[in-house]
Amino acid sequence: MINVNDIVEINIIDINHLGQGVGKLSDFVVFVDKAVTGDLVKAKITEIKKSFALGKTIEILESSPHRVDSPCENFGACGGCQTLTLSYEEQLKYKKNSVINSLKKSSLDMDGITIYDTIGMDNPYRYRNKTAFSVGKNNGKIQIGTYEQSSHQLVDLDTCLLQDEVADNILKNTKNILEKYKINPYGKRTKNGTIRHIVIRTNKDKEVMLIIVTNTEELPNANKIVEELIKAEPKIKTIVQNINNKNTSVILGYKNKTLYGSGTIIDYIDNLQFVISPHTFFQVNSVQTEKLYEKAIEYAQLTKEYTCFDLYCGIGTISLMAARNAKKVYGVEIVEQSIKDAERNAKVNNIENTKFYTGKVEEVLPKLYKKGIKADVIIIDPPRKGCEKEVLEAIKNISPKRVVYVSCNPATLGRDLEILQDYGFDIEKVQPVDMFCHSTHTEVVVLLQRQDHE
Ligand SMILES: C[S@@+](CC[C@H](N)C(=O)[O-])C[C@H]1O[C@@H](n2cnc3c(N)ncnc32)[C@H](O)[C@@H]1O
Repeated sequence: MINVNDIVEINIIDINHLGQGVGKLSDFVVFVDKAVTGDLVKAKITEIKKSFALGKTIEILESSPHRVDSPCENFGACGGCQTLTLSYEEQLKYKKNSVINSLKKSSLDMDGITIYDTIGMDNPYRYRNKTAFSVGKNNGKIQIGTYEQSSHQLVDLDTCLLQDEVADNILKNTKNILEKYKINPYGKRTKNGTIRHIVIRTNKDKEVMLIIVTNTEELPNANKIVEELIKAEPKIKTIVQNINNKNTSVILGYKNKTLYGSGTIIDYIDNLQFVISPHTFFQVNSVQTEKLYEKAIEYAQLTKEYTCFDLYCGIGTISLMAARNAKKVYGVEIVEQSIKDAERNAKVNNIENTKFYTGKVEEVLPKLYKKGIKADVIIIDPPRKGCEKEVLEAIKNISPKRVVYVSCNPATLGRDLEILQDYGFDIEKVQPVDMFCHSTHTEVVVLLQRQDHE
């Protein structure tokens, strides 16, 4: 029987989705902060729940062969990374195992399914093309950073090893300039103050879109602030003020005001040009996105006779890559601005065999089927919640030769694959791709073939 404040010695056998070490004390599971797979630690029990306990590492008795030193001084406080002290090789193994465990948890028939090793990065740092930070104040000084895991404590950052160096400059410059113009951070409790967040988007040419999220309609001294930000970092191509006056943890509000530049930024995937707006979804890891999409297109095995659906298509990234190999591609996406960007991206890239629909896939897809628009291949890339059942039923009715499922959540992927398997699709290949290095998040691309299709 263990109690709170007990000091225990525990072998760490795995990590969980929060990046905590997992150990067992006579079959009772303990999640231990700051421990990695292979460690033997002395831990203090901090909380006991019905089926598990929580603990904090107080001493590493035997360090794991997979343990590495953290290259970031803020690791453990900043909520950005979870597995920075686990070797990258072991992180990739963890991601493959988490996919296998999720698929096994759903009662999938695993026979005949090939699960490949995770595709990793040569250099798993400075890969994020988008970072978002909260703005606060401490002893009169502006702070910009992230919140400590499950706390309201802001960790002030001057650098983040996941973002491009140019974004580090902007972090520092923005702090100084906001201080100079006495711009007050928004207080969740007081509901006062102006500035809530800054969001930094960078492209392959290290050009920057800076989004300043305010609680108020007006940003005092906006022109001077913009002038100084650009002088300090000429790589800034556009600055957008986003107004979010809601009591919410969602970062962006609905309204944008372009303070400088076009209000958009251009980026490239596989020689295709994409216009990106502040609200639109764009995969955060450009290097790995190319590998992920190439795998999806490889699995799709498109021909110039084929019609392809790209469901949850965003700004048309996968749609345009598919359109180069297919007769016709239909894209469906719920965010209207994304569809406008997708249509613009098709034009910018002289691609004429695409058609985009704004709406919920669960509503649009059954309508396309009723209209008799069918697909040889369906590519789906839903948000973390996965697909609504109407979507999976419509896929069954449309009965494509192949389905390519891109997922950022192995748990909902397992649920949906089980249904598609029941609907007559064989799951052939499962390829994890590391899009979020040093976190436990796993991206996967899956090939499903219709059982009666050669
Ligand atoms: C994981 S993203 C993929 C976007 C795109 N395939 C890409 O890779 O850039 C999921 C997309 O689904 C959209 N979305 C979320 N729920 C939706 C729904 N019910 N119907 C249509 N689109 C939806 C989101 O706006 C987002 O653009």
